[in-house]
Amino acid sequence: MAIAGMGNVASTLVKGLEFYKNSTEGLWHPKLGGFTLNDITISAVYDIDSSKVGKRIGQIVTDCKTDFSDIVIQRGISEDTTPSHIAQNGQIRSAGYDEFVNSLKKIKPEFLVNLISSGMDKSGEKYAKAALDAGCSFFNATSSKIVNDQTKKAFESKELMILGDDLMSQFGGTAFHRGMIEFMTTRGIRIQKAYQLDVGGNQDTQNTMAEEIREKKRKIKTESIAIESPYPFMSTAGTTEYAEQLGDSRVSYYWMQANGFLGSTIEMDLALKTNDSTNGCNVIVDSIRAARKALSQKDIAKADIISAYAFKNPSKKMHIRECIKAFEDAFAN
Ligand SMILES: NC(=O)c1ccc[n+]([C@@H]2O[C@H](COP(=O)([O-])OP(=O)(O)OC[C@H]3O[C@@H](n4cnc5c(N)ncnc54)[C@H](O)[C@@H]3O)[C@@H](O)[C@H]2O)c1
Repeated sequence: MAIAGMGNVASTLVKGLEFYKNSTEGLWHPKLGGFTLNDITISAVYDIDSSKVGKRIGQIVTDCKTDFSDIVIQRGISEDTTPSHIAQNGQIRSAGYDEFVNSLKKIKPEFLVNLISSGMDKSGEKYAKAALDAGCSFFNATSSKIVNDQTKKAFESKELMILGDDLMSQFGGTAFHRGMIEFMTTRGIRIQKAYQLDVGGNQDTQNTMAEEIREKKRKIKTESIAIESPYPFMSTAGTTEYAEQLGDSRVSYYWMQANGFLGSTIEMDLALKTNDSTNGCNVIVDSIRAARKALSQKDIAKADIISAYAFKNPSKKMHIRECIKAFEDAFAN
């Protein structure tokens, strides 16, 4: 795979691929589609931050030597206003579209994984187009809306896959909320009202504080959670605050009010603390291996199952229990 965006998640992924050479502890699916994590190789990395472009991965991921340490971070595409955290490091270093496509064609990755900052919607669209032009499949972890009928058809016509949008962490705020709703509704409990308030401390959470991005993420999370309930109820979910002291951690505060027999009240108030970047990586390595398997069988339609499993905003939505089952039925071995 090639990666656009050498940030938090990409760094954790690099470390994970090294760690899981000799261990399976903490892996959701050690083997999937016939592949282990040893079958995943990073062949190129792109960024636009001048403090990263030109450096080797080993200069960014300093606490662990990996097979990918010597890969030099190349210039990616930039089509959006530069966020201040990147601008403060100096003039961005970006490549022209053709130059980027040629770079991909030369390296020939099977996947381009989009891990760029939240809110870079036009750049994300261009990366998808570039992947298509270069002949590689595309994975969109960002909340930009990139996967639709048109992009799916375009990738399918070249026997490629496009997967997205907006990575759903393995055990993050959204997945846990969906699981709770599913459990309560299948136990016959009538949910009346709920909210989920997220506080995080990493760079991406800070970006999400821009009102437009925050509103978009809130809508995606709220709609993703609504899938689980057979009836509508008053619900809000989203990134609420940035607190630098949390670092890469995220705390999700949940409150739910529901009724049981004779209208008896059930109220829940709890907090879930997780680590953002590690929480995303099992889902990424699972999706890439599953997609690789489906592609080798020319079964592009399986993209819908992979996207329902791995993303908060897939084009075909499924209940959380259903999509895990469909995914494991198709790929676990
Ligand atoms: N569990 C998770 O961490 C999780 C869950 C859902 C979605 N996501 C999404 O994954 C993405 C990556 O998250 P992160 O925590 O690594 O973010 P990050 O801010 O740590 O890293 C983003 C990187 O992208 C780079 N970048 C920005 N614009 C670029 C461009 N046009 N081309 C190339 N590089 C560019 C930045 O310089 C930075 O190095 C975010 O969009 C985030 O919302 C992550």
